[in-house]
Amino acid sequence: MVETYKKAVVVGANGIIGGNLIAHLVELGDWDVIGLSRRGGKTSGKLSHIAVDLLDPADAKAKLSGLTDITHIFYAAYQDRPSWAELVAPNLAMLVNVVKAIEPIAPNLEHISLMQGYKVYGAHLGPFKTPARESDANHMPPEFNIDQQNFLEAAQKGKAWSWSALRPSVVVGFALGNPMNLASVIAIYAFMSKELGIPLRFPGKPGAYDSLLEMTDAGLLARATVFIATNPQCSNQAFNINNGDLFRWSELWPKIADYFELEVAPPLPMSLNMIMADKEELWKQMIIKHDLLQTPYSDVSAWGFGDFVFGWDYDFFADGTKLRRAGFHEYVDTEEMFIRVFNDLKTRKIIP
Ligand SMILES: NC(=O)c1ccc[n+]([C@@H]2O[C@H](COP(=O)([O-])OP(=O)(O)OC[C@H]3O[C@@H](n4cnc5c(N)ncnc54)[C@H](OP(=O)(O)O)[C@@H]3O)[C@@H](O)[C@H]2O)c1
Repeated sequence: MVETYKKAVVVGANGIIGGNLIAHLVELGDWDVIGLSRRGGKTSGKLSHIAVDLLDPADAKAKLSGLTDITHIFYAAYQDRPSWAELVAPNLAMLVNVVKAIEPIAPNLEHISLMQGYKVYGAHLGPFKTPARESDANHMPPEFNIDQQNFLEAAQKGKAWSWSALRPSVVVGFALGNPMNLASVIAIYAFMSKELGIPLRFPGKPGAYDSLLEMTDAGLLARATVFIATNPQCSNQAFNINNGDLFRWSELWPKIADYFELEVAPPLPMSLNMIMADKEELWKQMIIKHDLLQTPYSDVSAWGFGDFVFGWDYDFFADGTKLRRAGFHEYVDTEEMFIRVFNDLKTRKIIP
């Protein structure tokens, strides 16, 4: 069988999603990979990086002008903003600028994959219909994920390439300096509780402790993303991507406490954003005391995201069977996933 040449652009190369996708593509071995981000990254083997500001169409056009042999675009860039409405303009602009810079010059383009999430279902707004399904109706805008999908669908009309929209739950994996990183929120919060000699308390809203949730492992998401992008039966559609199991914090929290060798105390609702704001000095002392990697506090403290996730006092899950019916059958045990990511943080000397 003749292998066809595959060259991927991963947009948002330093992200929790983009970084883990790059690791997977590199491991597969038969992909050339280019990562895009403002910070750039190290070139090694079949992986190289381009530092580009995708908010600037001229910069995008100039810096991406050599990408004529791209076959797949994996879009997972993200610009954080304080309100749902403010997310729309920058996040739509970045996607538009990438597609407009690459699509006209890449005749072998086969697929553009768009990373979305359960915000498509209004999961961030309040109790949404569960299980959410890919066929569910859109909610009242503003919603950048939908604007991005509408743009992509319109751009694809009459073209040889196809698109997909991927909808993970909260993504759990290794990353630093990311606004949405639940594993590091939990790990640093637990590590600080231990340092202060206090038990581990769930900091979320009262109802959140017992809601039914699911997560998406960053590695599983990467494997599903490549599966969808390279299987024609998945073309021009959206897919929910989740671990395949459900859990409640009330069940998982004591297991997380066990891992960190902590007692559990009853939940106490608090804003992590507020309560953890004064802990930078403590973090610096902990780094010295435990001989850890010098990681800036800002790189491990996505406290606002912790408040967001721990504030879900309603069920938070989607139907993941469409992807499984399409032939992707992997699942991940959510408890094992958290332990694996905590172990990874230890190996990297971010926690002791
Ligand atoms: N994290 C989650 O739990 C989660 C869950 C479900 C869905 N999602 C969705 O998945 C998408 C990606 O999220 P994420 O959490 O992986 O994001 P992230 O960790 O914040 O990563 C964003 C990436 O975009 C790059 N970027 C930002 N602005 C840029 C610009 N102007 N030019 C070039 N690159 C830029 C960043 O690199 P530089 O800073 O170096 O530019 C970074 O590599 C988002 O749409 C998000 O809503 C995330």
